[in-house]
Formats: sequence, C-alpha cells, structure tokens
Amino acid sequence: MRQDLRPAGEAGRIVRLAEQGRAAVRFLLDGIEREALAGDTVLTAMLTVSPVLRQSEFGPEGRAGFCLMGACQDCWVWQQDGTRLRACSTIVCNGMSLMTQAPGDWP
Ligand code: FES
Repeated sequence: MRQDLRPAGEAGRIVRLAEQGRAAVRFLLDGIEREALAGDTVLTAMLTVSPVLRQSEFGPEGRAGFCLMGACQDCWVWQQDGTRLRACSTIVCNGMSLMTQAPGDWP
C-alpha cells in the first residue's frame, strides 16, 4: 500500500535563500508539476518541494539523502518509467517525472 510521505501543507526540507534568478525547470513529482531552477540537482529540486526523497525500503520512514556527494547511495529515486537515478549527482531536466515511491511492484 502506498503511503503519502508528504503531509498536507508541509513545506520542503530545503529552503532556497539565494540564486532565485536562474531559469525555471519544470518536472513532475508524483504526478504533480513542480518547478526547480536550472542547475539544481534532482535532490535539491525534490527537497525544495517535499520533506523526503523517497520511502525507505526497510520501513515507513522517508529518506532525504545523507552525504550529498555521491558516496552513500541513500538518494536513489525512481522515475515514472521505472528507472532510478542518484538524486544528489543528477541535474534536474525539463520533463523529468520523478517519484517518491517505486512505481508498480518494485521488489
Ligand atoms: S546523498 Fe549520498 S549518494 Fe546521494
């Protein structure tokens, strides 16, 4: 059963304080259109609008990355097509369809 990891009204984990003048990038997060800024990593793009990147494989908790530099593997997220990417080292692109939970019956 899918769990909503984003409580209603809860803001993202990251608050953007500067560099707000970059071009907008539009992506989908769990089917909802969201906006990031050109050059943001997927991790930054997701965590500015969500408190978590994904659901843990081991329980109901959410994960939000750990090392932020490509070493710990805690930030792998799914795309709508079932492929996964490492959020902290992938630049967000227009049209990406990202998910906080595995699409379908992922093991
Ligand atoms: S946060 Fe550690 S690999 Fe991405």
